[in-house]
Amino acid sequence: MDKVSAIILAAGLGTRMKSKKPKILHQVAGKSMINCIIDQLKKFKLDKIVIVVGSKESIPHHHDHKIHYVLQKEKMGTAHAVMQAESHFKNYKGDVLILNGDVPLITYETLNNILQEHRGTFAVLSLLTAKVDDPTGYGRIIRKKGEIFKIIEELDADDYIKEIKEINAGTYCFKGDYLYSTLNKVKKNPVKKEYYITDSIEILNKQGAKIHTILVKENNEILGVNRRHELAMANMIMQNRIHKKLMDDGVTILDIDSTYIEYDVKVGQDTIIYPFTFLYGKATLGENCQIGPFVQITESKIGNNARIFQSTITGSMIKDNVQVGPYAHIRNNSVLLNNSGVGNFVEVTRSVIGENTKAYHLSYIGDTKVGQDVNFGAGVVTVNYDGEKKNKTIIGDKSFIGSSTTIIAPAKIENKENVPAGTVVTKGKNRKK
Ligand code: UD1
Ligand code: CA
Repeated sequence: MDKVSAIILAAGLGTRMKSKKPKILHQVAGKSMINCIIDQLKKFKLDKIVIVVGSKESIPHHHDHKIHYVLQKEKMGTAHAVMQAESHFKNYKGDVLILNGDVPLITYETLNNILQEHRGTFAVLSLLTAKVDDPTGYGRIIRKKGEIFKIIEELDADDYIKEIKEINAGTYCFKGDYLYSTLNKVKKNPVKKEYYITDSIEILNKQGAKIHTILVKENNEILGVNRRHELAMANMIMQNRIHKKLMDDGVTILDIDSTYIEYDVKVGQDTIIYPFTFLYGKATLGENCQIGPFVQITESKIGNNARIFQSTITGSMIKDNVQVGPYAHIRNNSVLLNNSGVGNFVEVTRSVIGENTKAYHLSYIGDTKVGQDVNFGAGVVTVNYDGEKKNKTIIGDKSFIGSSTTIIAPAKIENKENVPAGTVVTKGKNRKK
């Protein structure tokens, strides 16, 4: 099988972002731009991915032996950036995809299309182009008799060239054995004093080598993020994609504009998402749930048939047929087991709520293991913090905790125990069984 690798150019300073953070670490729908690209590349069977970075801080944490980093100390242009990866491609015979790190919306389908056409046409270099209404800032494609002749960058373009609407998307596929012999011939651009990868086209043309261009199907994919408003646009486009994919898979989203769903979120079939719902990180929602309105779920796993409204859930697990809300806050590795219910100003932290247990009114449940079929009256509070450390409470099955009970941990309430309203429980000693 033919071999393929990739180089991502990500060493640019990102000056126009006005950020202390490297540009490629800015996020689109909860995923850094560089990881958006890596995700798409991983759908290929690549030999390796080499990322050219400008500083050590730009290196995201990856435990992937196929991903390598090279440092480009001085930013001397896109060709110079690719040169930094040369040692990784000595005698490499496969194809090398080269991508700009600030083009986060590019898809596997488009990249694969480039690769297939590249191979099918026996081109030495293939590149992606787009026809856009406003080509400002992009390199313009100059054609002669329909064939690509060269690329002229904005800074070098006269008014006539600036009118050209076909632009270079910044996505290339080189035959490995031509890559460095071509880049070695690139001369410093006299205006910007940088080495441009885009000069490869003219060099290869002079050698009579075959260059192939592919017109991108969806212009959204090639949006380059140089400024924050482009980052916002990239977010918007990514949201549309995420929503569409979920809806195609059988999820109902009632109000797309007020629903924000990050890249790695999963939602099961026939779940309905109401307006003003925010799903972050690796939130996973089961089938047939009703989520929202006004819900924020972060890094949590929700089972099937959950009904969650006006609530915040962070780093927790909710099993099947559970009701959360209105106004509940579930956090810190809490677990709500099947058929339980929590709402009306109830906070649950580092606790397990047993099957069929209900806490529906004004409670704080912290560091507590609650059994099944327990009923909490209004205003039950576990006092888990003694000023120095957090202490645990255990509440047995089928117990009944009367309203305004204060449980001072460490404490244990037995199975079927009936705690009268207003009790202050201390070490389980001051109350009748
Ligand atoms: C580049 C292309 C332009 C194309 C556009 C598409 C060149 C000369 N121009 O312009 O034809 O239309 O992308 O978005 O290639 N980088 C480095 N090291 C450097 C310089 C840049 O790693 O020394 C990286 C940047 O981090 C970025 C990518 O290369 O990810 C492109 O650089 P950028 O300066 O954004 O190029 P553009 O001006 O957008
Ligand atoms: Ca750019």
